[in-house]
Amino acid sequence: MSLDLFSPVTLGSVALNNRMVMAPLTRNRAAEGGVPQAMNVTYYEQRASAGLIITEATPISPMAHGYPALPGIYTEAQIAGWRKVTDAVHAKGGKIVIQLWHVGRISHPSLLPNAALPVAPSAIKPKGQAFTYQGLVDYVTPRALETSELPAIVQDYVHASHAAMTAGFDGVEIHAANGYLLDQFLRDGTNQRQDQYGGSVENRARLLLEVTQAVVDAIGADKVGVRLSPVNPFNDMRDSQPQYTFDYVTQVLNPFGLAYLHVVEGGIHGGGEAEPFDFGAMRKLYKGAYMANLSYDKARANAAIANGHADCVAFGVPFIANPDLVERFAQNAPLNVADSSTFYGGSEHGYIDYPTLA
Ligand code: PHB
Repeated sequence: MSLDLFSPVTLGSVALNNRMVMAPLTRNRAAEGGVPQAMNVTYYEQRASAGLIITEATPISPMAHGYPALPGIYTEAQIAGWRKVTDAVHAKGGKIVIQLWHVGRISHPSLLPNAALPVAPSAIKPKGQAFTYQGLVDYVTPRALETSELPAIVQDYVHASHAAMTAGFDGVEIHAANGYLLDQFLRDGTNQRQDQYGGSVENRARLLLEVTQAVVDAIGADKVGVRLSPVNPFNDMRDSQPQYTFDYVTQVLNPFGLAYLHVVEGGIHGGGEAEPFDFGAMRKLYKGAYMANLSYDKARANAAIANGHADCVAFGVPFIANPDLVERFAQNAPLNVADSSTFYGGSEHGYIDYPTLA
């Protein structure tokens, strides 16, 4: 019998009941201080039948924030809030990892401590506008990080990883995709550094590898995933040689023996056209478990698992609108349609009130 979405799988130390992963989804509904609150517990608990939940991208420090009402994973109150989420998901038999996030230049002084400038590999302003508490505001030119500041950022990932373990997560996902800090280092459109963190692909990958090594040392490789998005132009991103860059990054991640590699196989919302890229070739370079993501439906996901492209598939928007997506796929039941006007911020409406099958 060939494998499909309903076949169990183990990613590192995390045993999944099925291969349907809830993708990380920014929802901007944390309480004051970045603390997860009751509706966040309900939201994740409702989706616990996913083989694995990856939480919304979660800032690892005050400087890592770039949008309103994000939950964090660096204070005691945040850890206590997340503990209620992980307990609820585990009580329903689910598994949950937290996505560790530093936004880099995709922020605004109004979202940062002491109205600080956002930080980035290089002082290159992104095109577009930041979502702030005052509405959409033009991005500013970020401040280029000093080489001497990078070890403290690595330590913020370590601190957040320990916090995630205290909060009861099954693991962490290092967010190195979608134009945020680690991706800003990887791609040469945003990294024009002259030090050992810029220039060659070996240098551009250095911060990701240091973060990965430090997090692996802190909590164990079998609890760590990494997310990449080789050609996603969202957040004004580009690379002059994406296949070369990301084939390299994939190969240097092999020796860690990570729980999984999670790949956004194209461009996400409104970022423009993604360049062509051979994800099959990249996948073949990776020796561990591969999680595919981007607009998969049930048929394409089953095909990707059956033919060995993917070990599991992450679904985003379908999980927003269908808390019982696993059951719906199992029954070939119709799906609820997602209301994009309630994706980012707001109340319980459009968050925890999507109906399950009768
Ligand atoms: C977003 O808020 O639009 C967002 C956040 C994290 C991502 C991608 C998009 O990785």
